[in-house]
Amino acid sequence: MLDKKFSGRHVLITGAARGIGFEIARQFAREGAVLSIFDFNREMLAKATGELQALGSAVYPYFTDVSDFGMVTDSVSAAEEIQPVDILINNAGIAFETPFLNISEKEWKQILDINLTGMFCVAQAVCRNMSKRKKGVVVNMASKNGVTAEFGYAHYNASKAGVILLTKTMALELAHLNIRVNAVCPGYISTPMSMEIDPPGFTENFVKQFIPMNRAGRVEDVAPIFLFLAGEESGFITGQVIIADGGQMAGQRPADELLAKLTTG
Ligand code: NAI
Repeated sequence: MLDKKFSGRHVLITGAARGIGFEIARQFAREGAVLSIFDFNREMLAKATGELQALGSAVYPYFTDVSDFGMVTDSVSAAEEIQPVDILINNAGIAFETPFLNISEKEWKQILDINLTGMFCVAQAVCRNMSKRKKGVVVNMASKNGVTAEFGYAHYNASKAGVILLTKTMALELAHLNIRVNAVCPGYISTPMSMEIDPPGFTENFVKQFIPMNRAGRVEDVAPIFLFLAGEESGFITGQVIIADGGQMAGQRPADELLAKLTTG
């Protein structure tokens, strides 16, 4: 029997209890990886662990808030004791909408602490160990919003732009240690997060107006990019950002009348 693609490799995934992070974990589990999963929602973490173990993988859950340096240090050390971490998927993040003029200090810090500082904190703790072994791969979760601004999300947009430059700087500084670092920028993806933010009916209108592929993204559209960037096929790729947005950033969608004329000939 052929070996699975990530057989025995130790993959640490943050924010893996639901949404895109859970799907990434599921796909690595199917490929034989040993998983360490970090999340700050205890109940969801326990449920996700059971579901991933049912796929036959070894799964180690860690109740961890990625913005808490102490918790991160302890959890990364515990994961390293099980087996050296080969791959880090830095996915945990939060989002909510606030008009720029109304963003409070608490809201600004909450988003930046988790989405950017949290990502730095986990990445540094893991890469310090990878650097001793001169081997490792990191894939950071950015967003289309880190490249182009979305109205009402100044704090979130800034955090994701920060992730992109953190990724590139890490790639530069860690290349000589044989550690590759890349980022993924999804566009609009249907997940519990987007369902919580957007009112009913929003997605349909949004898709029609902005996404040339005429549908929202699915977690299954995004997870394979992380596996590609973590695998051997991408061995010469580092410091890059891959956008998966159904064409949203390719250009402006035509007005309905023009679209009808063009598509019916
Ligand atoms: P989600 O809310 O469905 O899942 C996020 C997971 O991260 C949850 O399990 C949550 O408990 C965990 N988490 C959040 N903060 C944490 C913390 N401080 N410590 C540990 N765990 C924490 O969200 P979704 O949609 O799956 O998003 C995952 C990532 O993808 C986020 O970084 C998000 O910004 C990014 N993203 C999402 C897009 C979307 O349209 N859903 C688009 C572009 C990027």
